[in-house]
Amino acid sequence: MANQLCIVLDFGGQYNQLIARRVRECGVYCEIKRFDTPLEEIKALSPMGVIFTGGPNSVYDETSPHIAKEYFDLGIPTLGICYGCQLMAYTLGGTVESCTRSEYGKIEVSHSGGTLFSNVPEKSVVWMSHTDFVSKLPEGFRGNASSADCPVAAFECPERKLYAVQFHPEVTHSQFGKEILHNFLYDVCGFTGDWVMDDFIDSTVRKLREQIGDKKVILGLSGGVDSSVAAGLLSRAIGKQLTCVFVDQGLMRKDEGNFVEETFTKLFDMNFVRVNCQQKFLTALKGVTDPEQKRKIIGTEFYNVFWDKIREQGAEGFFAQGTIYPDRIESGKGNQAGHGSTAVIKTHHNMVKMPDDIKFDGVIEPLGDLFKDEVRAVGEKLGIPHELVWRQPFPGPGLGVRIIGEITEEKIKILQEADAVFRDEIRKSGIESELKQFFAVLPDVRTVGVMGDHRTYDHLIAIRAVTTDDFMTADWARIPYDVLAKVSNRLCNEVEHVNRVVYDITSKPPGTVEWE
Ligand code: XMP
Repeated sequence: MANQLCIVLDFGGQYNQLIARRVRECGVYCEIKRFDTPLEEIKALSPMGVIFTGGPNSVYDETSPHIAKEYFDLGIPTLGICYGCQLMAYTLGGTVESCTRSEYGKIEVSHSGGTLFSNVPEKSVVWMSHTDFVSKLPEGFRGNASSADCPVAAFECPERKLYAVQFHPEVTHSQFGKEILHNFLYDVCGFTGDWVMDDFIDSTVRKLREQIGDKKVILGLSGGVDSSVAAGLLSRAIGKQLTCVFVDQGLMRKDEGNFVEETFTKLFDMNFVRVNCQQKFLTALKGVTDPEQKRKIIGTEFYNVFWDKIREQGAEGFFAQGTIYPDRIESGKGNQAGHGSTAVIKTHHNMVKMPDDIKFDGVIEPLGDLFKDEVRAVGEKLGIPHELVWRQPFPGPGLGVRIIGEITEEKIKILQEADAVFRDEIRKSGIESELKQFFAVLPDVRTVGVMGDHRTYDHLIAIRAVTTDDFMTADWARIPYDVLAKVSNRLCNEVEHVNRVVYDITSKPPGTVEWE
């Protein structure tokens, strides 16, 4: 049985994926569709509810995204948020005007009842971000919330099951945002909450078995969260019909390759093929110092090894990959976020084409409908170790982009040791959950130091730790001085060839998270 469906209609706002995630957190399956999805297509999907998202525009801009008036004849319960709220009012004959003063940030609103606000106190704080507002409601609608600067912070027409809020219930700054979404989904639309991760695992395993039959499946395993969880699911579905190919280019963190191998060979039923090829990579990278060239070589070598191994295994049956939902979403602003097509191959988070001579019966993406948080929840339920499921992002080219200048075996070793010490200290300090990414960099700089009575001339280690929501921008983490002191002390004492430590205090922009 298919899940009950809510559609998030994307008008290009910045919180659209967040809305979809919040809906899923309420136990309701939802998909994001572009604002210009044909009405026939929407109808055919039989959604039990639709949410119009925010958007960056004014409804009066010529280029702003609109919706046909006939949409409202479909009779689907609908919630408009921010731009979606203004669009609903405007399309149905109301008026939208520019505010004398934009509302931005946490704002107190009061409501006068209505289904959306059941169990929400009369006054509460919400997140507002708008310069237009609804100044006149369409016929048959009533306003049921306001703020000091916004006379219509919410409106409704229960007879037609149309509701709208000027604020953003999906943002955590909106105190009762979750209740408001829940009220819309359960009390207005009548969802019953059938989106449950345990059920997802059972039904996906069933579907995979049906689809795959007795054929084989090959999956490229990187040791990242997505491919690991995809491997776990496939293993549960088809056991030894699955072969995971794990290319260890020798640029992973300390002991990581062995950890991945142990996890998948001991905990899961599958064929596990590990290709150790550090020497091949070192040879290809010899003398190369340009960051772009290094990246290119690492990428090219990786796929050469990977596809060769697949040819050797025999490309029969299906090819699986760990694509997740955000990789596939077509944004209302154009196809910015996603890559859409299932034909692209995702390994190490890079999209590459499958060579022409390799032909599988099809591509399988068992996580194609899930958000990252859901992938992690599935991973935990499948028994994949916490360390893998909550692994911080790690770039495809691995330590190759953290060793500045030429990459050598000795430098890899120094960086692996230094990085392991830094991560260990962060774990012990109890601040790990506050950091989105933290790692060591080997900048290829030697400095003079003194060790005992001896002069040293050895490596500098830079440490990097960032906080961020989406990695588009990032701030350097304010790690307590005593933690930095411990890290510095341990790095100089425990890691051979390190005699100086610096902390990278550059935000992004102007810096990037990685050094190369
Ligand atoms: P930057 O350095 O661009 O990094 O600020 C943003 C995030 O992306 C990760 N990153 C990569 N991930 N392949 C990947 O899969 C890559 O080539 C790559 N380069 C950077 C980086 O670790 C950070 O999380």
